[in-house]
Order: sequence, then C-alpha cells, then structure tokens
Amino acid sequence: MRIDIITVLPEMLESPLNHSIVQRAKQKGLAEIYIHNLRDFSDDKHRRVDDYSFGKGAGMVMAVQPIEKAIEKLKTERNYDEIIFTTPDGRLFNQQEANFLSLKKNIILLCGHYKGVDQRIRDRYITREISIGDYVLTGGELAAAVITDSIVRLLPGVLSDETSALTDSFQDYLLSPPVYTRPADYKGMKVPKILLSGNDREIDEWKHEQAIERTKALRPDLYEKYLGKV
Ligand code: 6GU
Repeated sequence: MRIDIITVLPEMLESPLNHSIVQRAKQKGLAEIYIHNLRDFSDDKHRRVDDYSFGKGAGMVMAVQPIEKAIEKLKTERNYDEIIFTTPDGRLFNQQEANFLSLKKNIILLCGHYKGVDQRIRDRYITREISIGDYVLTGGELAAAVITDSIVRLLPGVLSDETSALTDSFQDYLLSPPVYTRPADYKGMKVPKILLSGNDREIDEWKHEQAIERTKALRPDLYEKYLGKV
C-alpha cells in the first residue's frame, strides 16, 4: 500500500512515521509512505500556501493553487482510491474505517491547517473527510499520523500472529482484557489464578468475560454496539 501525505509541516510527521511498527512495515516493503511539503507546489514567490478568507471570517484559508498542483501531479503518476482531508468537521474515525482504508492500494492524505481549505478543493478532489475526535488540534498532521499508523498496522505481514490486529480492542467492539507478566506475585499483588492454570479454554472464557465487564464499565457506548452485533 502507498500513502502520500501532503502537509505544510513535514517535520511533524517524520518521527511518528519513522519508528516502531510503521517503520518496520516500510522496511519490509509492505507500506510506502511519502511526505510532500505543500510549499514546494506553491507558485507564489514566497511559497505561500494560504490567504485571507473572503467574507470577513477571521483566519487564513489554504488556497486552491498549491493543493491542486500537488494532487494533480500525484494523480498523473497513479490512480488514487481515496483522497482524504483531515479536518475537525470530518467524519469521526474508528476501527471500521481503518479496516476499510487498509484494503486500498493508493491513498492521499491532505492535512488541514489554518481555518480550513478553500471549499473548491473539497468539492473537486476530496473523497473522504476525517476527524480523529471531538477536540481541536492545531493541524491535521497528528491526525494524519494517527490514521496512517492505524491503517499500516493492519496490512498483512506487518504484525506477527502473536500481536495480530484481529485480537485488538475495538475489532469486535470490546476492549481488551487486563494483561499481566512476571512475577506472578509482586509484593503481594497477585496475578489472577486462572491465568496460571494452563487451561486454555478456561483462560479464553475468562478473558472474554473480562473484556465484556471492562467494556460495560468503561465504554457503555461500545457495549451497546457489541450487543447489537451478537
Ligand atoms: Cl483531523 N484536524 C484538526 N485540526 N483537529 C482535529 C482533527 C483533525 N480531528 C480532531 N481534531
């Protein structure tokens, strides 16, 4: 899979996308991630990418020209399945959306900034608008990093069987059960006995019950979805 990210702050994406699982996916050739500096596409002599908003609104707006140029250039090189804009007024991102996007071959992520992007870009090019939560970030870069991470870890071969994405919280609308490691007794704080029993079937049952209890207590909204599903 290939992901092209268009941003005014490439530095903000470098660290999150060059470590850990995303880095491993790139090294294994399972994911290609390219970060493009929007300023490189500006025809302005000062490389400006924003301008004042028509109709008085406060704040700068990302202009059509550099974005059009960046997207058109990429589109001459390959077909894109999705051109995504990260914006607080987008649809709320979740695991189902990550699963869906992980099946695509080529996607563009355009990072929102300032007071947003000229609506004509959204009308002409954007196929999907995503927000990562009901709070405001200074730009779409962190959101793009979050979306990329959540997609890349789903690509076949990126995770080992042991850490399989299929057993993640949210895949079935349930939170993960509690986990423990050695020692079995730390200063009197004990690991639940069942986990030391060696009875795989009972352990699986216990984990499932714990997942349900946790979800009920911590995320009643998810629990409703879980109930609707089974
Ligand atoms: Cl995608 N962008 C910004 N600026 N803020 C956000 C967001 C995106 N998602 C949640 N808050």
